[in-house]
Amino acid sequence: MENIIQKALDTHTLEKNEIIALLEDNTQNDTLFKAADETRKKFVGDEIHLRGLIEFSNICKRGCKYCGLQCSNKEIERYRISLGEITEYAKNAANMGYKTIVLQSGEDDYYSVDKMCSIISEIKKLNVALTLSIGEKTKEEYKAYKEAGADRFLLRIETTDEVLYSKMHPNMDFKNRKKCLYNLKELGFETGTGSLVGLPGQNVESLADDILFFRELNADMIGIGPFIPHPNTPLKDVKQGDFTLALKVMAITRLLLPDINIPATTAMETIHPNGRIIALQAGANVIMPNVTEGEYRKKYEIYPNKNRADEDRAKCKSLIEDKIISIGRKVSSDFGFRKSI
Ligand code: 5AD
Repeated sequence: MENIIQKALDTHTLEKNEIIALLEDNTQNDTLFKAADETRKKFVGDEIHLRGLIEFSNICKRGCKYCGLQCSNKEIERYRISLGEITEYAKNAANMGYKTIVLQSGEDDYYSVDKMCSIISEIKKLNVALTLSIGEKTKEEYKAYKEAGADRFLLRIETTDEVLYSKMHPNMDFKNRKKCLYNLKELGFETGTGSLVGLPGQNVESLADDILFFRELNADMIGIGPFIPHPNTPLKDVKQGDFTLALKVMAITRLLLPDINIPATTAMETIHPNGRIIALQAGANVIMPNVTEGEYRKKYEIYPNKNRADEDRAKCKSLIEDKIISIGRKVSSDFGFRKSI
């Protein structure tokens, strides 16, 4: 096992069977996390990038089985934030010092290409980097967002196991999702993807394939989080994903894609009281605090307690900053684009 970790440290490549061996073994986890931390330090340094997340609509036309925002959930109170309010929240976040704004929503067709482009160009006036996380669109739509000024796009593949993918995503097409990611890359977006750990029926082999897919795409950002059951979804009785396994998938991803940006995800913080700080010491270098204001935050419930972690915007930023400093790291004051080697 130590040999495999050493190989990953030296060459940043692993065969599928080696990834599986690492995921199955639990005797060398600390060595693995240390190796990922060392690689993070060597390639992207001690700075942590904070991205201010605005969840601007929880309306979604998709029916992803694990997600609380799925269209068949009738219990949730739906909202859409107006164009003016979105830019106001972005402005407030920029004034707080955020250098990246992330706009995320369900797949809500109310926000037409024209509406999105006008939000994008308004936010780009704030001298921030802008990330979109709004789902599958046509290449033409992605191109319009890029031309309006968007810099990055997040679209998790969720799982590369095609059979599991189709079970989890009724009326969706794995090939199209993959195509979207390649389109984003081609258009020059810094492209983020990632997967859920702990979906029912998922195995270590498919997690290894997920990691190899991140490499094949040459993803610029990877978000990994444990699956957390939501009571108003068909997966309500499924066991929650394992924190350590999610952390291991993240650590191996750091070893194989040493120079990318990797967030310590909110899902990790939700299932473990110190989840984000642990992740920051096992390969992660990004945190995405929620900067959505008012009543909206608690309604964006992808999984239970999602936004409990960052209750008050200002307090949460300074709390996170204090924690970052306490582990000997720094808060970055630049845009935090991928550093190329
Ligand atoms: N548990 C954990 N993560 C989830 N996501 C959606 N539903 C859940 C859940 N129940 C993740 C998906 C999506 C991201 C925005 O949130 O991976 O891409």
